[in-house]
Amino acid sequence: MPTPIIAGNWKMNTTVREAALLASHLRGSLGGVSGVEVVLCPPFVSLAEVARTLEGSPLKVGSQKMHYDDKGAFTGEVSPHMLLGLCQYVILGHSERRRDFAETDAIVNRKVRKAMQVGLRPILCVGELLADRQADREEAVVSASLRASLEGVTASESLVVAYEPVWAIGTGLAATSQQAQVMCALIRRLLSEQFGKEKATAIPILYGGSVTPANIQELASQPDIDGGLVGGASLNAAQFTQIVVTTASVRS
Ligand code: 13P
Repeated sequence: MPTPIIAGNWKMNTTVREAALLASHLRGSLGGVSGVEVVLCPPFVSLAEVARTLEGSPLKVGSQKMHYDDKGAFTGEVSPHMLLGLCQYVILGHSERRRDFAETDAIVNRKVRKAMQVGLRPILCVGELLADRQADREEAVVSASLRASLEGVTASESLVVAYEPVWAIGTGLAATSQQAQVMCALIRRLLSEQFGKEKATAIPILYGGSVTPANIQELASQPDIDGGLVGGASLNAAQFTQIVVTTASVRS
């Protein structure tokens, strides 16, 4: 079983000052927690400050996105090399980027391969829309997206996958632990096909979508759920701490 991961996706929230304050609180409350890898993903402009705040602690830093090229005329973008040294993880293919910034599976695939090549750990997000679930095609949609996003990827050691059903994000309507387990087990099967069973067993698969201190225990108890990608609740130090502590106790 992989070490569970709880990652906080702060999205477009917090000023640099607020980000440093939140990171400092979490360093205080989570610096001593073992058995769970904690990753904070602040906005770009706060990456350096948050990295400084967490220096010497076990807490890790992640970016919320990344360009796939090394450098060049891409106004407003940030390259993988710029992220190295600031963070260890990068969230790729989040549904908000797919929906609002036209990130396709093909683009996500280039980013995943690039992140791995430079030594960043990708947290690859996949998930179905409400309409997909209502039409009973969630498994087909997630399978196709995962396969396309991982095309040509041969090494799995640094990979993290997050199952985030779009209908559960920011709605307060989390998937049931059973729904989440079914989809994470499907993802594990697909990863086995690509990388072999042993390697697939070692890849952390996270659930994301309205994770709270109230539902994390049941979610993290599922055999194929190795932690969470947390949005709203990650902005609240007490709630995020509770989510991490509960995960640690479930998985210890
Ligand atoms: P919420 O936890 O706010 O639903 O967001 C989930 C998410 O999108 C994490 O990446």
